[in-house]
Amino acid sequence: MPENARSPLAPLKPLGEKLLFASNFLRHPNMLGSIIPSSRFLVEQVLEPIDWGYIISGIPLGSMPDPVRTDIAMKSHAALEPGGAFLVYQFTARALPTLQRTFGDVQRSCERRNFPPAQLFLCTARGA
Ligand SMILES: C[S@@+](CC[C@H](N)C(=O)[O-])C[C@H]1O[C@@H](n2cnc3c(N)ncnc32)[C@H](O)[C@@H]1O
Repeated sequence: MPENARSPLAPLKPLGEKLLFASNFLRHPNMLGSIIPSSRFLVEQVLEPIDWGYIISGIPLGSMPDPVRTDIAMKSHAALEPGGAFLVYQFTARALPTLQRTFGDVQRSCERRNFPPAQLFLCTARGA
């Protein structure tokens, strides 16, 4: 490999990461949901309630078939210790009924400084 060539395993520079994210969005818009990575505002709000025993997820539950979405919610619920929670950020509220059905208690908030604005669902395990 020439000396100035980049190894395929070398970390991408920030601009390279942004271009990779954008090109992945153009190829799979439903899987990524946004053309740019999540903002620090969203990351900070998602992490704010973290103590221990959480599952954090930004996968596009709303774009998945309902049986897949339900399976993920139920397996997450089953994996949580008492006091834990399933912390989900989404760009639509399509997954909310599934989360409410599975967890019962779902607290909602929103991060408008993210593009696109994101909804956060804090799903606390029943009996916790
Ligand atoms: C909204 S992006 C979030 C990316 C990054 N975590 C962020 O916050 O910027 C959604 C991510 O979910 C991933 N994803 C989509 N469907 C998935 C699936 N079925 N299983 C695992 N990951 C999936 C995509 O590859 C994408 O990276």
